[in-house]
Amino acid sequence: MVARVISVEPFDIVVFGATGDLAKRKLIPALYERALAGQMPAESRVIGASRRAMTLEEFRAFAREAVMESTSHPDPDVLARFLSQISYVMVDAASDEGWDDLCQRLAQAPERVRVFYLAVGPDLFDDICARIGAHGLVTGKTRVVVEKPVGKNLASARAVNAAVGKVFPEESVFRIDHYLGKETVQNLMALRFANALLEPVWNQAHVDHVQITVAESLGVAGRAGYYDTAGALRDMVQNHMLQLLCLVAMEPPVTMDADAVRDEKLKVLKALEPINEANAEYLTVRGQYRAGASAGGAVPGYQEELGAADPSETETFVAIKAEIGNWRWAGVPFYLRTGKRLASRVSEIVVAFKPIPHSVFDDSAGQIRANRLVIRLQPDEGVKLWLMIKDPGPGGMRLQHVPLDMSFAEAFGVRNVDAYERLIMDVVRGNQTLFMRRDEVEAAWRWVDPILDAWRNSREAPKPYTAGTWGPSASIALIERDGRTWMDDA
Ligand code: BG6
Repeated sequence: MVARVISVEPFDIVVFGATGDLAKRKLIPALYERALAGQMPAESRVIGASRRAMTLEEFRAFAREAVMESTSHPDPDVLARFLSQISYVMVDAASDEGWDDLCQRLAQAPERVRVFYLAVGPDLFDDICARIGAHGLVTGKTRVVVEKPVGKNLASARAVNAAVGKVFPEESVFRIDHYLGKETVQNLMALRFANALLEPVWNQAHVDHVQITVAESLGVAGRAGYYDTAGALRDMVQNHMLQLLCLVAMEPPVTMDADAVRDEKLKVLKALEPINEANAEYLTVRGQYRAGASAGGAVPGYQEELGAADPSETETFVAIKAEIGNWRWAGVPFYLRTGKRLASRVSEIVVAFKPIPHSVFDDSAGQIRANRLVIRLQPDEGVKLWLMIKDPGPGGMRLQHVPLDMSFAEAFGVRNVDAYERLIMDVVRGNQTLFMRRDEVEAAWRWVDPILDAWRNSREAPKPYTAGTWGPSASIALIERDGRTWMDDA
């Protein structure tokens, strides 16, 4: 099946941090893929901006390398055209150096959609936004993309939001959470709101619990400096995992308009039962990996990767039992689990339904297991609905738990579009549905901050786990004491 391409109007995108890791791994490849799909009008320009002294040729060589390393289908003509749309400007966020040059380039197309992408550390957001404002670069068609992390806690998130808000109205601010751009995450909304089947059972009367797992097999090598200041709770839970939880738990929005969707997500965040010093020990587990094995080879522990003299107390794993205090979800635990150097790379949401109230079958039928809906984000995207059916053939009524399996790659045969491709195009179109609003980000921090405080004040260090396993045994205990298990095999 051929993917449908919606045309976009010509745009200029200025990427701050253009020589950095995010630009190289995600942004430049995403723009190339969109060019290949015919969504990069010929007049559009990609303007790389960074403090590094680089010639145009050097930056284009960097962009070419970024594309060649990421794509499985390079097209020489499209690549040549794409590179000709790229330019570079040396700009210092902390001084006026380079800004006149940037202004002149943008002045060549004052009417065009203009995107400023802040692919830089949050400490530079304030300076860059202030200079964009001071140089009069904000037009009616200007948008700014703010990468995570938006702050380290509620207070710093508010400061970041205030700094950005001084220059850009909220309708122009696109706080990116790339999980919202993943195909399956959007499919979750399609499943819930384009089918009548699920809605009647999507509540505490029928759902036993929900599991959200985002497991990574890689460690933090190369990013240890940043990671050690964040940890799994800030890096993954405050944003990606809470966003997934919101999409599972929110009420049907009135429309798919950005604010209609975000209003519903905000209500979920506000309804999360607090976790603080009184209950954090019982409801959360944090861990840190030790040396172990991954992909058949020995791998070092977190401390060794970090290479710091003093032991770090940063968590590389977190498991949480969260609850939502509202009519739909009261009493339904949402077990969240994420970590680095786990047994495999898998992200999925499991909605586990309640068991049948009474069995009409005798023991020879075997165990009747509860239905579950598994929404898999990666590595292979798809949806499975686990049902009980009869074993085929004669021999009496023997029951089996089998999935109705819809693997998207098999069902649709289309390339897996990277989240950044979709999200950048949404920015160009001005569609904020898949971006976090200011109050959402702040509400997420409001829930996360007391957990961080509780951990800081506890005398316990993160629990060790061996790299290549499913995390500390306490995480298994967290769910098993409720009579449930993590569904590692789903
Ligand atoms: C990022 C985190 O936001 O998401 C990383 O900072 C993490 O630590 C990454 O590895 C995971 O994204 P994905 O798309 O590979 O699951």
